[in-house]
Amino acid sequence: MNATVLSAINEQINSEFESSYAYLAMAAFCEAQKFLGAARWLRLQSEEERQHGMKLFDFVLARDGAVDLKALDQPKASFGSLPAVFEQALKHEQSVTQRINKLYELCFREKAFAEMTELQWFLTEQVEEEKTAREIVAKFRLVGDDPAAILDMDRDLGSRAVAAAAAQA
Ligand SMILES: [Fe+2]
Ligand SMILES: [Fe+2]
Repeated sequence: MNATVLSAINEQINSEFESSYAYLAMAAFCEAQKFLGAARWLRLQSEEERQHGMKLFDFVLARDGAVDLKALDQPKASFGSLPAVFEQALKHEQSVTQRINKLYELCFREKAFAEMTELQWFLTEQVEEEKTAREIVAKFRLVGDDPAAILDMDRDLGSRAVAAAAAQA
């Protein structure tokens, strides 16, 4: 595996684990505010991001590359409100999409064909992740600060289904 590509994929493993950590911090914030549905949604999202990290971890090992786990940045722990958490989640996913695009571009330049194929899964996943976050944000914007509607939203978020492991997708 090309050293530049390997290093960039190791960075992406770190980024996925940082995403997992960021969502975990959001889950803690929501649970502390007793928004238990949102907290459940965010815990599941945190787990999905961990699986994204593991998918690349397994890929690097399968390509006989060296996994290089790095330190995680401390995630943002405090948010103004429940809707603000999801505004933050949407912004986060948009920045992740840019990262994945850059990584894909690097692999393209380096003619890292197997890596491009692996990353196609992530490009598709980002479309879904942004779409989901955008829909939740749109609903929060619609309901404004109506407490009854916010409680409904929290309950809806709590009904999120547990996704199949990314590594098996
Ligand atoms: Fe991810
Ligand atoms: Fe994500």
